[in-house]
This record gives sequence, C-alpha cells and structure tokens, in this order.
Amino acid sequence: MSPTAMPPNFAAALTKVSLVGQNKTAVVVGGTLGIGAAVARLLAKLGCKRIIILGRDENRGTAMLETMKKLAPADSRLEVAFVWGDLSDTKGMRAAALALREAAGPAGIDYLIMTQNGVPKGFLVPNADGHDTGFAIQALSRVALSYLLTKQGGLAPNAILMSIANQGNSLDDLSVDDLSLKVRAAAGESQTALFMNQSKRDSTVLDSFIEEFNTRYPAYRFFHLWPGLVNTENFTYDEVPGYIKYMMWLGMQLIGTTPDKYAPLPVYVHATQTLGSGMYFDYKLNPGKLGKWAGDVKNRKALWPVLMEIIGEGGSE
Ligand SMILES: NC(=O)c1ccc[n+]([C@@H]2O[C@H](COP(=O)([O-])OP(=O)(O)OC[C@H]3O[C@@H](n4cnc5c(N)ncnc54)[C@H](OP(=O)(O)O)[C@@H]3O)[C@@H](O)[C@H]2O)c1
Repeated sequence: MSPTAMPPNFAAALTKVSLVGQNKTAVVVGGTLGIGAAVARLLAKLGCKRIIILGRDENRGTAMLETMKKLAPADSRLEVAFVWGDLSDTKGMRAAALALREAAGPAGIDYLIMTQNGVPKGFLVPNADGHDTGFAIQALSRVALSYLLTKQGGLAPNAILMSIANQGNSLDDLSVDDLSLKVRAAAGESQTALFMNQSKRDSTVLDSFIEEFNTRYPAYRFFHLWPGLVNTENFTYDEVPGYIKYMMWLGMQLIGTTPDKYAPLPVYVHATQTLGSGMYFDYKLNPGKLGKWAGDVKNRKALWPVLMEIIGEGGSE
C-alpha cells in the first residue's frame, strides 16, 4: 500500500478489524510496560488468540495478563502467558528464546514484536559478556531472539517480526570491532556525545541486521518502526544528558503521544499486512530509509558474523 493510501486514523481503521478466529500467536517482548504493553492490550482487544509477553517484572507481567483477559472479546478465547526473561546478556537472550519457543508451542509465533529497553545512557555499563548493557538489550537481544527463533523453528509460516526502536540513523564511522563504543568512551567523549552516538549505533546495527535478515529469510517479513516520542509510564527526562533533554522535551510537545495512542500503528501492520514491500517506517507509518552505514552492503556483510559470534552462533550463516 502506498503512503497516500494509508488510513488517516489507524485506531479508526482497526475498529473494522477482528483477529477472532485467525488463531494467531503474538509475542510482545517488553510487554510489561510502555509501548509493548499497549500493543499487547490492543491485540487482546482485537481478539488475538494467544498473547505471550516477556519482561523481568513479574508483578507487572501478571497484572498485564489480567488486563488483557478483561479486554478480550469473549469469543476470542484468549490464552495469555508471562515469560520471565532478562535480555541483558547472551545467556539471558538464549534462555529467553528457548522459553518463548516453548510457550508458543508447535504452531509457532505469528507476530514477534520487540519493544525492549528504553533510552541510551551516555555512559557504558558492561554486561556479563563485556558488552554495553543498553546495547545488548536494545540491539543484540533483537538479533538473538529473531535469529534463534527463526533457526530453531519457533516461528509460524509467514511470521511477521517487528522491532520498535530508532530507525534510519547512521553512525557513519561505526567499527564492527567496537560495537559497544568503548574506544570512544575511553577517549573521553562527553556523556551527551556518547548518548547521541549510542542512539545512532543502535539504529545502525538494527537496520543493518533487519535488512540482512529480510534478504536471508524471505519467508518472513521483519519491519522496523520508529515510534517518534511516546510518553510511557516510566519515561523521564532525568537521565537524558545535556541539551538533548530540552530537544526531547520540545519533541514531546510537538509529536509526543501516549502508548495507547501509538499502539494502533504497529498493530495495524500485523492485523492488516497491507504495507507493501517497505520494511522501515516512521512514527506515522510513512516509509523510512536505511541510514548511510546500514545502506552499504559491505558493512552489513561485515557486521553479520560479528553479531552471530556475540549471540553464541559463531560460524552460522
Ligand atoms: N518511548 C519513546 O519515546 C521512544 C522513542 C524512540 C524509541 N523508543 C524505543 O521503543 C522501545 C520501547 O520503548 P518504551 O518507551 O515503551 O520503553 P519502556 O516503557 O521503558 O518499556 C521497556 C520494556 O522493556 C522491558 N525491558 C527492559 N529491560 C529489559 C531486560 N533487560 N530484559 C527484558 N526486558 C526488558 C521492560 O520490562 P521489565 O521492566 O519488566 O523488564 C519494559 O517492558 C525501546 O526500544 C525504546 O528505545 C522509544
């Protein structure tokens, strides 16, 4: 569907859509809070058959299960599950992939929606593998979950994968030997500069992986959506360094929205599957593009084996 043919109001368009009877299984990673929780609520409301959410907060997770059951139409016979998982390191990512595959059962996952993590920090916090923890959750865990679930038979035929995160930014001088940006941090880059570069790095790595994934696994479709600015339950400007805090505040006034108002966009993609061949979209579902680094096939080819090594799949194609 061309952008001009997009409905002006996705929430209104979804009032004519029902998932009842389609027997779909959705997994929302990061579904305990924020955008992921709103996506899970809306899928329940539309009658999705099975919804599995993954996060670390068991209380919020189990409360979400009750909320989804209340929202579901009676004839959807909704089945819900909370899967505990911590995606901060490779061990946690691999355990989460396994737990999700088991929770989904033999039919597999139809919709894999990844919304884990929040904003970068502007400093490095090493994880158990020595990588930056924010990067691990934001980018590496999306690589690990999508790759492992694909290779290990966790996805249903024609599954749709989706990452909701910054899209289209480029860290033009990214080195595949320094994905955690340790060299920059050691060189004394300011917190503000490192924050911006972490954000660009996450977008660069995710775009590159998703582009490469779509080429290698054409049986599935993997979308990457930039959500704009969404004022989630835990959103705070406190941890945002320097002038970026003011830019973000202004951005929130101009284009900011709430999780429940944003959720119809990603859910529209899953429920209607009418976005044509594009894989990248902005906060209004206008088509997006790859940034400069990710747009270069040589970079993507160099990155792939490095990512495979990090997620414990070294030597895999
Ligand atoms: N909100 C925005 O304005 C905005 C703008 C641009 C991009 N984004 C991106 O959009 C995505 C969703 O953002 P959001 O604002 O909805 O985030 P959020 O409200 O902070 O929610 C993040 C979710 O990720 C889960 N999570 C965090 N760390 C985790 C870990 N180590 N293991 C497993 N789950 C973990 C959290 O669950 P638990 O606490 O239960 O683990 C929570 O469900 C993020 O990737 C964010 O970077 C957001």
